[in-house]
Amino acid sequence: MRWALLVLLFGANVSAFADTTGAKVEAGEKVFSQTCIACHGANGKGTIPGVKDFNAADGPLSKSDEELITNITNGFQSPGSPLAMPVKGGNPSLTEADIQAVLAYLRKAFGTAAAKN
Ligand code: HEC
Repeated sequence: MRWALLVLLFGANVSAFADTTGAKVEAGEKVFSQTCIACHGANGKGTIPGVKDFNAADGPLSKSDEELITNITNGFQSPGSPLAMPVKGGNPSLTEADIQAVLAYLRKAFGTAAAKN
């Protein structure tokens, strides 16, 4: 049963990478692994205190795209948090397209925790 589901998911991934959404997610993964992974971790759970788990159903990814793009672009700190999200993750060379792509990657990689478990 689990195996069949994996095969199904894999098939869906292959076709997704053939279209523009797939290319965007791929570009976003590159941004993530270069700029964001140190704090957010490859599994999106966060590597240091103050970083929220992207996989949590009520976590940061429950917010709208608009709000998250704003907070990635301008930096963000929630009340009482020990650490701020730096402006553009500390990489000033990121473009608006990079930020949209990295958000698409976050949603694809971590945004479906309920479905994955
Ligand atoms: C220096 C560590 C650090 C780096 C690098 C970093 N972040 Fe963050 N990020 C944080 C912290 C800490 C928070 C939580 C801030 C809070 O809730 O107070 C956060 C929060 C977020 C949030 C949730 C914002 C919200 O509205 O709740 C998103 C989305 C995010 N980061 C994306 C990224 C992306 C994309 C990158 C790379 C471009 C990145 N981060 C790089 C530390 C980092």
